[in-house]
Amino acid sequence: MKFKTLALAAALLAAANAAQAQGAKLKVGLMLPATGTFAALGSAIENGFKLYVAEQGGKLGGREIEFVKVDDESDPAKATDNVNKLIKRDNVDVLVGTVHSGVAMAMAKVAKDTGTLLFVPNAGADAVTGPMCAPNIFRSSFSNWQPGYAMGEVMAKKGHKNVVTITWKYAAGDESVKGFKEAFEKAGGKVVKELSLPFPGVEFQALLTEIAATKPDAVYTFFAGGGAVKFVKDYAAAGLKKNIPLYGAGFLTDGTLEAQGSDADGLLTTLHYADSLNTPRDNSFRLAYAKAYKLQPDVYAVQGYDAAQMLGIGLAAVKGDVSKKAEIAAAIERAKIDSPRGAFSVSKAHNPVQDIYLRQVSGKENKLVSVASKALADPGRGCRM
Ligand code: PHB
Repeated sequence: MKFKTLALAAALLAAANAAQAQGAKLKVGLMLPATGTFAALGSAIENGFKLYVAEQGGKLGGREIEFVKVDDESDPAKATDNVNKLIKRDNVDVLVGTVHSGVAMAMAKVAKDTGTLLFVPNAGADAVTGPMCAPNIFRSSFSNWQPGYAMGEVMAKKGHKNVVTITWKYAAGDESVKGFKEAFEKAGGKVVKELSLPFPGVEFQALLTEIAATKPDAVYTFFAGGGAVKFVKDYAAAGLKKNIPLYGAGFLTDGTLEAQGSDADGLLTTLHYADSLNTPRDNSFRLAYAKAYKLQPDVYAVQGYDAAQMLGIGLAAVKGDVSKKAEIAAAIERAKIDSPRGAFSVSKAHNPVQDIYLRQVSGKENKLVSVASKALADPGRGCRM
């Protein structure tokens, strides 16, 4: 009798706690770069995320959203401390981050160990939806393999045979080049030299001299943010642009065109977004973003917006009860996410299965040329859920 009363009291208390938790604000920890070469990318992600939340009246799954922010500085050495601060000090319910692959891998490790929900709104580290995959980890962006692989096919079709690659020496650069090489060499091309420099370095001169001396048919590159601005300008200034065509994963020219000016004109890149999709969904997103922030959106804004959509889909299925992880995952797994890029679903490993567009820079836009790769799925190598 006594035991039954106690059990009942405990059950009532648990139910009351859950109800209270659902009524309380939902704390979202935004771990993004606010400084350094990726600062503008972090800001676009945050804008996109907040735009979607605002469109839902400030609530997801019936719960008001509260934000806690950390500047991760795109520094992997500080990543574990930063993410632990959000979880232990700030008690966030959900983690959102980040841009840099090395930082994101540290976040994924902690998320996996603690079971905290994590939405990755940019970083492409293949491992996040590969060996580190987990039921509570989702990506709204891409894997580094995806745009690279698509460009390997494009450049082979253009008839290029010998290509030099150049990138930052870290997970994103290495994996982007690896994806490119996989497709390019499968189609009969050859990567004759792989050049790199440490992240976030911008001393490109010696490497540009080496490209000029090697005389490849073309160059494939992964750079992003401030580094991409400088690389495109230096490539043109070195006189290489007219003789050795430059291609890249689309980050090379996304969110960077104002600063690159005419040096970016004509560049061909592959990415899961373009500026001129001209679909009703994208047009309304672009209008809302421009109105809210007096800025044009880019791929990072879209990825932030879609991270919020994915969280919203998960929370709606559990009426805001963030403890129901399996139901949240199931809801996102069966969803078609209504993205400005075009609707997409996620793979078993929780990475977007999406069209990769070939785009060409014209003025201040990455104009759509064609769909380079339809519904491209990352292979998710090493993922065991
Ligand atoms: C990454 O580190 O994964 C990364 C960073 C910036 C980008 C894309 C990928 O634009």
